[in-house]
Amino acid sequence: MENVEIIIDGVRKVVPKRITILKVAQELKIEIPTLCYHPAIEPYGACRLCTVEIEKNNRKMFVTSCNYPIENEIKIETNNENVIKIRKLILELLIAKVGYKGKVKEIAEKYNVEPRFGVGDDDCILCGLCVNVCKEIIGVNAISFSSRGINRDVSPPFGKEAVDCIGCGACAFLCPIGTIKIEDLNEKRIITKINANLELEKCKICGKYFVPKKFIEYIKNKIGNVELDVFLICDECKGENYIKRLASFSLTGGKNE
Ligand code: SF4
Ligand code: FES
Repeated sequence: MENVEIIIDGVRKVVPKRITILKVAQELKIEIPTLCYHPAIEPYGACRLCTVEIEKNNRKMFVTSCNYPIENEIKIETNNENVIKIRKLILELLIAKVGYKGKVKEIAEKYNVEPRFGVGDDDCILCGLCVNVCKEIIGVNAISFSSRGINRDVSPPFGKEAVDCIGCGACAFLCPIGTIKIEDLNEKRIITKINANLELEKCKICGKYFVPKKFIEYIKNKIGNVELDVFLICDECKGENYIKRLASFSLTGGKNE
């Protein structure tokens, strides 16, 4: 593997060529804030909060660290005055759009950001995590971006019901501002924002409705004839069974009767 020498926050380092600045920073425990980045998903570069300053061939510039691959010797400043100014401005604009929600609130407080442009109440920062996890990790593509400019938003096809959604909840889990919510109401799972409405299957042990039927079908189609029981037992019952199984063994490994 080819290596390249860099200076990051005054420290000289040899790193593998094409590694991103963010990954190097994370390995060195240098904190860079992110809103649209997740290690399992291709960097999307939407929020620009991870901006850092680099110096290359005697030229300084700002780049987003999550999707900037290091190709040659560069000098990186992750936290200088200019970088902080840019991050504060981005946070002010985000607050003007969505207000103090989730991770935006958390990071804005860390950076002592005042609401210079007002406090908005939109429900999306267009980070793309929900769209990209559905496409890249789940392989479903149930939601996408709709419209352009100030009307840009995340929605199911044609703004109607997310008919392809399998109800896995990955989008809700990753949404940095908590817009997408899962509500299980008896036999139905509703996923807000993306307009999904799914029938649930009962837990084989306690009978509680807990997993979308479409999710089980999807797993079956994807991984074939596997033992699906593990997907049909709710977390609580999995825990109970686990404890019972543990209790049936003595500490020396022999089985208790
Ligand atoms: S709904 Fe949430 S996860 Fe999806 S783009 Fe908007 S802020 Fe990001
Ligand atoms: S985390 Fe890098 S652009 Fe959003």
